[in-house]
Amino acid sequence: MNAKAEFQRLLLKKWPSLYFRLIKMPGICTATQDAQFWNLHARLLQDQRCTQRPRERYNLWTLARQVQALPGAYAEAGVYDGGSARILCEAKGADHLHLFDTFAGMPETDPKADPHFVAGQFADTNRQMVEDYLAGFPNIHIHQGFFPASAADVPADRQFKFVHLDLDLYRSTLDGLRFFYPRLVRKGIIISHDYGNVTAPGVKQAFDEFLATTDEPILQLWDTQCVLMKTR
Ligand SMILES: C[S@@+](CC[C@H](N)C(=O)[O-])C[C@H]1O[C@@H](n2cnc3c(N)ncnc32)[C@H](O)[C@@H]1O
Repeated sequence: MNAKAEFQRLLLKKWPSLYFRLIKMPGICTATQDAQFWNLHARLLQDQRCTQRPRERYNLWTLARQVQALPGAYAEAGVYDGGSARILCEAKGADHLHLFDTFAGMPETDPKADPHFVAGQFADTNRQMVEDYLAGFPNIHIHQGFFPASAADVPADRQFKFVHLDLDLYRSTLDGLRFFYPRLVRKGIIISHDYGNVTAPGVKQAFDEFLATTDEPILQLWDTQCVLMKTR
């Protein structure tokens, strides 16, 4: 474990109020009392998995739990080494979770829309490693390969209540919205990382393009996420 992650993990364990000050989370915030989440966060720090910042991790956790009573499955497109998928596993109960990634790095990128990414980034992972990391959680379905082609084996009648997009790229994000939005149940949500990330402009570009075809509102969150709920 690197020194910074170990320091944060120890701080969180021994002096949580100092840790919350470090990450600028005020004590009046009920999130600080969610022991189940902070244990999971400490575990992710220890494992050095998950590219999400603490608030983004919490948003995933709490939103995934808030929609639990809806019908449908969970999904994540852009899994990398399984850190954020682990959050969904802990939140979803016995529901189905579909995970999509090449597990061999980024596909071809569009230099204009995705100037900070290159093919092959995030290749230091593999399917077996992620399967091992999530072993013990029920109903996990891994779809390895280029998305959306890799979604060909998703059952035709599968609907989703919660989708996490973390694909970084313009084309992949647009394909994600086009695939998942029609399969979303009413009040189901798509949450995406990097909508407000200046180094991933293709994500917002994809949302802007997709939203022009619906009249759903988009909710931007702190730090970089956004949420799209299917209201009808
Ligand atoms: C930032 S990483 C995901 C990080 C992960 N959600 C986490 O928080 O730890 C982005 C991932 O998207 C995947 N990706 C992007 N476009 C893809 C596509 N069209 N098909 C499959 N995987 C894709 C890459 O392989 C990479 O692993």
